[in-house]
Amino acid sequence: MNLRLKIWRQKDAKSKGTFETFMMDDVSPEMAFLEMLDALNKKLVEAGTEPIAFDHDCREGICGSCGMYINGHPHGPVPAVTTCLLSMRYFKDGETIWIEPWRAKPFPVIRDLIVDRSAFDKIQIAGGFISINTGAAPEANSIPALKKNSDSAFDSAVCIGCGACVAACKNASAMLFVSAKISQFALLPQGRIEAKERVRAMVDKMDELGFGNCSNTGACEVECPKQIKLTNIARLNREFYKAF
Ligand code: SF4
Ligand code: FES
Repeated sequence: MNLRLKIWRQKDAKSKGTFETFMMDDVSPEMAFLEMLDALNKKLVEAGTEPIAFDHDCREGICGSCGMYINGHPHGPVPAVTTCLLSMRYFKDGETIWIEPWRAKPFPVIRDLIVDRSAFDKIQIAGGFISINTGAAPEANSIPALKKNSDSAFDSAVCIGCGACVAACKNASAMLFVSAKISQFALLPQGRIEAKERVRAMVDKMDELGFGNCSNTGACEVECPKQIKLTNIARLNREFYKAF
């Protein structure tokens, strides 16, 4: 395939960014999207020009670092897939592909397609944990939990903290992310002990860092690569009301 890439270039958060155009020839439909960017960067480096900065780590859909907007969708046009698992077979020969960073005030651009998502770390540090003594792993069945609750907690725990929900939201709301982190504990007996402090601290931190509120648009759920459900936000709201 021959492709025209329109990629956002920005030196840092304070500089003005712009789209630059790159032509890519002989792209195999077998390639992963990030491999295609690797091939572009190889060409740029060999030509003595600055490569495109983009974030990635696991390349298997679990670390959450590879987020970018592709043709108007966080993580690209294929539902429930992270950028690193996106295949070039979903694009057509001759296509123009627009590639941009997350655009949300609490995620400032570091360079090109890389944004600073440390605001999510700060929310997690505020309360996204349970206080237990570490040591030998406790016997798994010593605290009984309903199967349906542990299944739901697991569904929430698959959030990878990628930030696509924030990027997709017109309010730059982090409610889907925070609600997933709250839900994974709220549904299990181990998480109930600190539930009130946790939800107050995480919501306070989320507000302090400048994330917007949820107005039930649902773009976050549509674009989430891990299919985290809006029902988590309803649970977050219930937990928050119960915490006072
Ligand atoms: S809720 Fe979904 S979109 Fe938001 S951070 Fe978690 S995995 Fe990413
Ligand atoms: S690189 Fe880890 S989720 Fe994509």
